[in-house]
Amino acid sequence: MQRILVTGGAGFIGCNFVHYIMEHGSVHVTVLDKLTYAGNESSLVGLPPERFEFIKGDICDSVLVDRLTASVDAVVHFAAESHNDNSLQDPRPFMDTNLLGTYTLIEAARKHGTRFHHISTDEVYGDLALDEPTRFTEDSVYRPTSPYSATKAGSDLLVRAWVRSFGLRATISNCSNNYGPYQHVEKFIPRQITNLLDGHRPRLYGKGLNVRDWIHVEDHSSAVAAILERGRIGETYLIGADGEQSNRTVVEKLLHLVGQPSDAYDLVTDRPGHDLRYAIDSTKLRRELGWRPLFEDFDAGLAATVQWYQENEDWWRPQKAETEVKYAGQGH
Ligand code: NAD
Ligand code: TYD
Repeated sequence: MQRILVTGGAGFIGCNFVHYIMEHGSVHVTVLDKLTYAGNESSLVGLPPERFEFIKGDICDSVLVDRLTASVDAVVHFAAESHNDNSLQDPRPFMDTNLLGTYTLIEAARKHGTRFHHISTDEVYGDLALDEPTRFTEDSVYRPTSPYSATKAGSDLLVRAWVRSFGLRATISNCSNNYGPYQHVEKFIPRQITNLLDGHRPRLYGKGLNVRDWIHVEDHSSAVAAILERGRIGETYLIGADGEQSNRTVVEKLLHLVGQPSDAYDLVTDRPGHDLRYAIDSTKLRRELGWRPLFEDFDAGLAATVQWYQENEDWWRPQKAETEVKYAGQGH
């Protein structure tokens, strides 16, 4: 595979994937990104210019998407409106980007016979009870609960339909919650880290008992690379690293890392419809493609992430005040 189009490559997971794929091979990458509030071109500095091109544009722009898709071997589709809280305030951009944007891309990929990989989330499966051993598998039933997860579920189903009806050469991956460098401060872990760096208390929704299954973003990147290389067309792969933690435990670990008492957090208004627990069984990916996560020590990954935000205030500072104003308006 020589040339790849990466949508949403200026966002958190997209930019980490671009760095990963360019460091691990000789591929040429074109990033297509609208640079919404969540996109940041500075996350892509330092890439070799002879193998990298950045295009500012919208995945709903069919003329642009058609032209870019025609000139690559594969499209890896990260671009999305990605934040649940935003989707509860204003679902419209989620409909446009996640549904119409994905539709625009798969139409172009179908026309040009381009290999397509669709990035999705485990949230399409709804949530699990806190006290059951069950985890999501590729056979779990779609039960999205928020506008965000409903539009991601819709986009997955579009890709599946294009595989079956039009022979689109596509794969899909559904990953659990990512953490690591370059994540927008609206998301849970960076919000709490930057609150602590600013001398403010972490803020837990509800009682902080909800559970997320954390994976380091670089492990997500290596899994996507494996699927792109060796995944079977038409298949879905769940990506996860056995990283279940309650939100309260994560905050306690962060407080420990910065030398503060374990109860120095605030409980704030819960998210409406707040999913209780996500958990991924990634046996298929591990058995079929031989993938395994390298960042299995969550505490070490969290410490490295705290250090990254300490050392990269220039990157996150411009987002912080606006994000906190938005949360204050929601009681969070
Ligand atoms: P993000 O919000 O950090 O980045 C999204 C990027 O897409 C931004 O750069 C933004 O500018 C761009 N974008 C948005 N609308 C666009 C449009 N219409 N045209 C072109 N570009 C557009 O998101 P993220 O956390 O990096 O998530 C990336 C993908 O991974 C999403 O599809 C998300 O659903 C999925 N995912 C995320 C997680 C997670 O923990 N963050 C977990 C599983 C799956
Ligand atoms: P988030 O990063 O928004 O990811 P998702 O909703 O996709 O799982 O939130 C992760 C968890 O953290 C979720 O249970 C909501 C919770 N949360 C807080 O407790 N406090 C916060 O300030 C934020 C942003 C999230």
